[in-house]
Amino acid sequence: MSRALVIAVDGPAAAGKGTLARRLADALGLPYLDTGLLYRAVGRRMLDAGLDPAAHPADEQARRVTPEDLKRGDLRVPEVDRAASLVAAQQAVRAILVDVQRDFARAAGGVLDGRDIGTVIFPDAQVKLFITASPAARARRRWEQLATDLHAPDREAQIARVEAELVARDAADAGRAVAPLKAAADAVVIDTDHLTAEQVLVEALRVVRAGALGTV
Ligand code: CDP
Repeated sequence: MSRALVIAVDGPAAAGKGTLARRLADALGLPYLDTGLLYRAVGRRMLDAGLDPAAHPADEQARRVTPEDLKRGDLRVPEVDRAASLVAAQQAVRAILVDVQRDFARAAGGVLDGRDIGTVIFPDAQVKLFITASPAARARRRWEQLATDLHAPDREAQIARVEAELVARDAADAGRAVAPLKAAADAVVIDTDHLTAEQVLVEALRVVRAGALGTV
C-alpha cells in the first residue's frame, strides 16, 4: 500500500505559506495544519503567565497546549510573533511539538506549513515546497492582512515597521541552532513576489503532480 501523501510547505514569515497550504489541502482533500499556531499558542501562554519567553523555559507551557488554544483570536499580534519565535528556538519545546505534528498526518497524510516541516518533521515528505518573497512584498501583504485602516496617512511607515519585524524574526528563525528556517535540499522553491495566490496554487499543484505521482 502506498504512503499517505504529506506536503511540506516551509518559508519565511508572511510569504503566503498559509494561504497556499490551505488551498492545496482543499484542492487535494487533505487535512491542513498551520504549525506556526502551535508555537504561537506556547508564546501566548508564556505571556499570559507573565513569563518572559526570552528568559524562561517554555516546555511546561508547551505540554499544556490544547486544541482550544489554537483557536484563540489573539495569536496573530506582534507580541505573540516575537514570543512564538523565542519559544520556537528552545529545543525542549520543539521536542514536545514534534509528535503532535507527526501524529496529525499519520492516518490520512496532510499539508503542513511551517519552518522545518521538510527538514525535520517530515524529511521523507513526498512533496516539499519552500515559499518565499522579498521582505518588501511580504511586509505589504502582512500589513494588508492586519491593518485596521487601509488608508492610514502613515501607512508607509507602518509597512516599514512590519518589514523590520519580519526581517528580524527571519534572522532569528534562520540563525537558531535547532531546526533553523531553511529550504530542504530537495524542496522546490517558489518565489511569490510577482505571483497571485492563484498562480502560486497552480505552480504548487504542478509540483505535486510531478512529485507525488503514484502515491495518491
Ligand atoms: O505567519 P508567519 O509566517 O508570520 O508565522 P508562523 O508560521 O505563524 O510562525 C510563527 C513563529 O513560529 C515563527 O517565526 C517561527 O519562529 C515559529 N515556527 C517554527 O519555528 N517552526 C514551525 N514549523 C512553525 C513556526
